[in-house]
Amino acid sequence: MDFSLSTEQKEIFDTAIKFAKNEMIPHALELDEKSQFPHEQFKKAWELGFINTCIPEEYGGVGFTALDSVTIGEALAYGCMGMNTAFMANDLALLPIAIGGSHEQKEKFLKPFTEEYRIAAFCLTEPGNGSDAAGLKTTLKESGDHYILNGEKMWITNAGEAHLFVVYCTVDPTLKHKGITAVIVEADRDGIVLGKKEDKMGHRASDTRGVRFENVKIPKENIIGNIGEGWKLAMKTLDHSRPLVASSAVGGAQRALDCAAKYSKERKQFGVEIAGHQAIQMMISNMAMKVEASRLLVQKAAWLLDQGLKNTEVASYAKAFAADACMEITTDAVQVYGGYGYSKEYPVEKLMRDAKLIQIYEGTSQIQRLVIAKEVLKKY
Ligand code: CAA
Repeated sequence: MDFSLSTEQKEIFDTAIKFAKNEMIPHALELDEKSQFPHEQFKKAWELGFINTCIPEEYGGVGFTALDSVTIGEALAYGCMGMNTAFMANDLALLPIAIGGSHEQKEKFLKPFTEEYRIAAFCLTEPGNGSDAAGLKTTLKESGDHYILNGEKMWITNAGEAHLFVVYCTVDPTLKHKGITAVIVEADRDGIVLGKKEDKMGHRASDTRGVRFENVKIPKENIIGNIGEGWKLAMKTLDHSRPLVASSAVGGAQRALDCAAKYSKERKQFGVEIAGHQAIQMMISNMAMKVEASRLLVQKAAWLLDQGLKNTEVASYAKAFAADACMEITTDAVQVYGGYGYSKEYPVEKLMRDAKLIQIYEGTSQIQRLVIAKEVLKKY
């Protein structure tokens, strides 16, 4: 058992954290306030090789492991959880192609993401179906030599900027899981109608909106795997992406701890630094323990993937634990700052707003516990 990162991983982390501190943090508050998409940072992160980490080397990718990806994810989220959501959504959308796509699909759809700055969006959730993902209603009907896609998706990260969508739909809603199919939809196809950009509590630098597909023509070669294989592909994709989302919680939580600990040594009350008061020390200790435990769970969930082992249970441990810990840690960071923490002039109020979404997207903290219960109870 060895808990240390390799020399190469340490170098990757150092480059990513430097980028987060120099290129993301200075712009995070402004992009959040203006609800502006981080094109400049996205493009620079892409140039550094930090985007689309799931693309295999043979299709032009950098060849990162899952452990490399969560190491990068933590560092970039330290810079801004909102910008990192936009970055990560590319991986989430490309993963179904990397996991279940044919050689031709990988050549055609993944390679361009390594050759130029491009954005992708993953479309699973619908206005009426979030946690109950298998209840989706978007339909795919055969029509001669192609298919026709109709339906509405909601809460789609990157939708307004995307060059490519990966859409989950059904050939027959009564088949539930067995009818679900994943299709690749190029953004320039006729019939794609974007909804209005959501005005969100946090992650405001990311673009989130609904998308409607109205009689969109889908060539047969854009189906990932076979008809009816989309559900398992979606679940496998989430097994890969949940450790990454959890790494974002670790990055945000580490930033909150760093801010709170530093501030506690600057702020004086009752004649001493507040770090000298046990009430503050208890909060700092709890933050540090939870950051470390979250990071270890995230690394284990990623390591299992790299070993080719099933990580469903540990990925949900990581996602639920790290997201809940991030919410608690950022809330305590605001508490350490007191009144100043509640002001937008200090960084921690944004961290607290951003933390909330990690408990909701890619499966709520409650859904993670359902997944865990299913996996645990199977053993008895
Ligand atoms: N790998 C392989 N197969 C899996 C699997 C996995 N991880 N998880 C489930 N399956 C299989 C099951 O074994 C079962 O197979 P059989 O029919 O052969 O027995 C089948 O899939 C159905 O599984 P369940 O009975 O568990 O399905 P369910 O309908 O009860 O749903 C759920 C389970 C875990 C609640 C699922 O609906 C879920 O994960 N919901 C949350 C959805 C979610 O995370 N959405 C996030 C959207 S993306 C997002 O937020 C992105 C963003 O913008 C950033």
